[in-house]
Amino acid sequence: MDMGAKPKSTRRSRIARQKLAYQRGFGNTFSSEAVKGALPVGQNSPQRAPRGLYAEGVSGSAFTAPRAENLNAWLYKLRPSAMHGPYAPVAGGKTAGLLRSGPFDEAKTPPNRLRWNPLPIPARPTDFIDGLVTMAGSGDPAAHSGIGVHVYCANRSMTDRYFHDADGEMMIIPQQGGLLIFSELGKIQAEPGEIAVVPRGIKFKVGLLDGAARGYVCENYGAPFRLPELGPIGSQGLAQKRDFLAPVAAFEDRSGKCEVVAKFLGNLWAAEYRHSPLDVVAWHGNCVPYKYDLARFMVINTVSFDHPDPSIFTVLTSPSGQPGVANCDFVIFPPRWMVAEHSFRPPWFHRNVMSELMGLVHGVYDAKAEGFLPGGISIHNCLQGHGPDVATFDKASAVDLQPHKIEDTLAFMWESKFVFRPTKFALGAPQLQKNYDAVWSGFRKHFK
Ligand SMILES: [Fe+2]
Repeated sequence: MDMGAKPKSTRRSRIARQKLAYQRGFGNTFSSEAVKGALPVGQNSPQRAPRGLYAEGVSGSAFTAPRAENLNAWLYKLRPSAMHGPYAPVAGGKTAGLLRSGPFDEAKTPPNRLRWNPLPIPARPTDFIDGLVTMAGSGDPAAHSGIGVHVYCANRSMTDRYFHDADGEMMIIPQQGGLLIFSELGKIQAEPGEIAVVPRGIKFKVGLLDGAARGYVCENYGAPFRLPELGPIGSQGLAQKRDFLAPVAAFEDRSGKCEVVAKFLGNLWAAEYRHSPLDVVAWHGNCVPYKYDLARFMVINTVSFDHPDPSIFTVLTSPSGQPGVANCDFVIFPPRWMVAEHSFRPPWFHRNVMSELMGLVHGVYDAKAEGFLPGGISIHNCLQGHGPDVATFDKASAVDLQPHKIEDTLAFMWESKFVFRPTKFALGAPQLQKNYDAVWSGFRKHFK
């Protein structure tokens, strides 16, 4: 791979931005029809569905899950999803071959703090599927527990290729280049600074809006992401329900060969279809893809002293079943005012039971003066000491504490009860910084 090389056919890989309509709200039961009269009224499965469509249910939770957690949708399709031949394993070579799933046991997990520079955009033609590289993960998709952390680096749009992931929902965080995610339930455009989430098993393809794209993917094997409880914060704050955007129905009425790639128990499988699987003319339900602009996050922090726990920055959470303990919390460090008096304002030194994996969309993260690059990743696993580097500590300990705004930055963290286990690729990658420990090596003893 050639760092920064421009793919030869960038033009053909780029698709135009579209003015898309969305439906607002988190967890709503939405209804949408791309063709008038395509959505049945008053029932889900009429003897003959409107306009000759096939009715099909899809669930994102057990039928008997409590109402608040029950996810499902009814789709009205040109053809039933069942209409396809067998899937066969995707042979290595075509994909980067670097996609992994739990159990993440191919390499011994070191206790070390780890940090990587960004992976390069490949020079050879690579779409979103081919460009997925697994950096770390935990748990096991078969057990519906843990997460996989992938980076995608792509330069081609998926045109006659589609993807669905039975192993987990996918939270996609573009870092470079916008994406058009055309799913069974419609289209979502996601730019750097936004996130998109595709439910487990929903088919989609990814178009590139800028010709080259890099970003992060949390493949959540566990309970689907939801908004955190707000407790004493009250009824508003953090991410607001109305800022989450779901698509409206859109479909492809397209015959001809195409490839549908499935991720199932960690492996990629492909089947040849004779029609586009994105053939849902109308739908209703709450098992939907969605997007969210992270600039809409209402940041809450101290107005007196000290730095609260970073859980105050939680956008979405995937609970583990153990009260207050996340399978995965999605936490952001966006632009915000720092006003704490007589306090060390950056994140403090800490060792946590929960494990942390961080990424940076743009700018500089306030706990590190340098070395943590946009597109990079850091891992600070269970109970391993970390925090500000020497330069940050020295500066923040001496600075005149005027109100100060941190601007032009967007870092994020996936925090989990499970240790992040790096893949063999990640531990051997040239992007792994060999001297990361050095950022904490120069602290002088000030004891008097
Ligand atoms: Fe941390």
